This record gives sequence, C-alpha cells and structure tokens, in this order.
Amino acid sequence: MKKTRSGITIECIEGDIAAQNDISAVVNAANAQLKTGGGVAGAIHHAAGSGLEKECRSLAPIEPGEAVITGGHNLPNQYVIHCLGPVFGRDKPEDQLLANCYKNALNISEEKGIESIAFPAISTGAFSYPTQKAAEVAIGTIRDMLPKLKAVKTIRFVLYDKKDLEIHENILSEL
Ligand code: APR
Repeated sequence: MKKTRSGITIECIEGDIAAQNDISAVVNAANAQLKTGGGVAGAIHHAAGSGLEKECRSLAPIEPGEAVITGGHNLPNQYVIHCLGPVFGRDKPEDQLLANCYKNALNISEEKGIESIAFPAISTGAFSYPTQKAAEVAIGTIRDMLPKLKAVKTIRFVLYDKKDLEIHENILSEL
C-alpha cells in the first residue's frame, strides 16, 4: 500500500529490511552497543559484513531514542541509520522514546539529503512493544514531520509478516 502526502510517498510492504535494493538508507533496530544481534540487527549486520560493526565501534553506546548514521558496506544501500528503540515496560516514556527514533532518523536523512528511507517496526520484536501501539506512534510521528521534510521523498515500512503489514496498512489508510 502507498499514500502520497505533501509530495512524500509513504508505503508498507512485507519483506526483509536487509533486501531493499531501491532505497538510500535502511534503519536498524539496534542495540545500545551497535553490535549484531537477532532480528533486524542480525539481518543488517549479516548482509553488511564486518566493516559495519567496525565502523559502529566509535559511535557506541547510544541511548534509547537516539539515531546514528554509518555507511551501508555490503548492503545495497548507501547508509544505515541505527536507532535504539525503548524496551517496552522499562524505558520511559516509551511512546516519546519511540517517536524520537523516527524523528531523529528523519532529521539525519534531511541533513544528508537522503531521498528514500526504509524502517522496520522498531522495538516490536525483542523489545516487546505491542505492534499496534508502536505503529500508531511511528506513523503519527512521520505524519507530523511531513511538512518539514524537503530531501526525503519516500518512506517505506518493511514488515516481517502479514499481520504486522495489516496493522500498519490500517493505520496508514487513515492518514
Ligand atoms: N526485516 C524486517 N523486519 C524484521 C526482520 C527483517 N529481516 N527481522 C525481524 N523483523 C521484525 C520483527 O519481527 C519485529 O517486528 O522487526 C521488528 C523488530 O524486531 P527486533 O529486530 O527484535 O528489534 P527490537 O524489538 O527493536 O529489539 C532490538 O533486538 O536483535 C536485538 O540486538 C538487537 O537488542 C536489540 C533488540
């Protein structure tokens, strides 16, 4: 599903965040140490190769809500933007910390002149944020930022299964 608002296309697809060939920057659902992990962090580091972890060393640790940018190494993308989402039930206020991930990733994209960015559903895996609530925060934050985006023209959510895709599509359809 695709929607265009303020000249910016927002879309949701089912797929693998590490296989987005037509996107400039992919977002990593990172850990504080910016090391490889399970889920998204595992897929991104595996596809990017060891150069990514080396580049990450001097940038870690990061705080919940923070975002940092690196090169894409062996990924098909020029950049990786690493966001540390909140652990649901621990890092508070979790909705603001999650919103900060999306805000900071989009602000970095604007600074770098990035035209297209793909997000996974940050915090909804190992960090246990309920997907419906997380998707409301993610899409609401993006909606509020649309008027100030100049460089970014495509924002893609890459969801790992049909249920998560449906949740995001339902919220996007109300935009
Ligand atoms: N592509 C897209 N989405 C994926 C992929 C993938 N290859 N793999 C997993 N997902 C989905 C999960 O199903 C979940 O909905 O991404 C969402 C986020 O899950 P996690 O990767 O577990 O991210 P998060 O909840 O933010 O937890 C981060 O997990 O892997 C560790 O080291 C990482 O400690 C960090 C924590």
